Amino acid sequence: MTNNKNRRDFIKAVGATALVSATASGDALAMGQMAEHDSFDDISRVSLTSLPTTCRKMSNLTKVINGPDLYIKRDDVMELAHGGNKTRKLEFALAQALDNGAKAVITQGGLQSNHVRQTVSGAAVVGLEAHVILSNPVPEMKSELMGSGNYLMDVIMGAHIYVAEDGRGELVEKVKSELTAAGKKPYMIPAGASNGVGGLGYVNAGRELIGQWKEMGISPSHIFIATGSCGTHAGLLTGLRHFGNTTTKVVAVSVSSPAEALKKRVRQVMDMISAESGIDTSMIDDDEIIVTDDYTGQAYGYPSDEGNAAIKLVGEQEGILLDPVYTGKAMSGYIDMVKNNKLENAKDVVFLHTGGAPALHPYADYFLG
Ligand SMILES: Cc1ncc(COP(=O)(O)O)c(C=O)c1O
Repeated sequence: MTNNKNRRDFIKAVGATALVSATASGDALAMGQMAEHDSFDDISRVSLTSLPTTCRKMSNLTKVINGPDLYIKRDDVMELAHGGNKTRKLEFALAQALDNGAKAVITQGGLQSNHVRQTVSGAAVVGLEAHVILSNPVPEMKSELMGSGNYLMDVIMGAHIYVAEDGRGELVEKVKSELTAAGKKPYMIPAGASNGVGGLGYVNAGRELIGQWKEMGISPSHIFIATGSCGTHAGLLTGLRHFGNTTTKVVAVSVSSPAEALKKRVRQVMDMISAESGIDTSMIDDDEIIVTDDYTGQAYGYPSDEGNAAIKLVGEQEGILLDPVYTGKAMSGYIDMVKNNKLENAKDVVFLHTGGAPALHPYADYFLG
């Protein structure tokens, strides 16, 4: 058995190799030259999946929606137990945990959190204990939410699970002091890994996309994303602008909070990214932070009819699985905006698939009737 120290060194070595090869291919293309070094590359990162993820046209869906050419970026296809957007964030967060000498990570989320599932998977890969504090956003679905999907996967991967009856804060603090007292130096990852270090994952994705779009010969007017804790939005916008894309609009569809609150949160996370990396985010104007809350539906974790219809449509036309909590709602927003001419000068639109399909299982009744 490899001990933890050796395992860390091994993972870091693999991470470093992966980073070098990524820089020499797609990432460097983004900057238009092969050898340019960005200080962003000096930040610790462990490789948890093969990058770049694919980006391709959805020809069938484009035809049916009758809008601009629509592309999909497959961040749902990654190597951490079904993948999703948190994997990129964890490449930086878990590297920092290892650098700090942590033996355990603590994070939190809903019972069906995709973030928690990827954190548990990533922690296993790098040899850390995963302690996760979960709460229930949909009380009437407790047995479904604890009976399959992400929760089941957390159990299988050996997570230490604590279910909070009301509010997670107190329980998080309790677990933190217990692990600290046990000498495990717990590393705290906030819900959604949406802080400065987590946001770096999508700064990296912004650079990757610039390179891919150049190779593909497209110049997207918009990229659509689902947004919750805002790290994906803040990181992506920062990455695109920092690495030279000044035109693609990031359109974020809220799955939880009002748009105004999320816009403020995106700015806060961009400030944290700046503090973490030295990247200047002040050049990004407030009016570049675009969020809509028109497609949230009843509340976080409650599927919408339009979102579920979008899931069916994408499944039937493209053979791709969206999810009922995040990406289905984001796609329903895109479809509505095209149908009602709400997108100005749209061309080569990209949909960022941030994952989440494991949550289809607890919500099966919405589709099986
Ligand atoms: C599938 C999926 N899409 C989108 C998001 C939103 O990402 P963020 O929390 O960075 O806003 C999440 C967050 O949990 C997610 O699981």
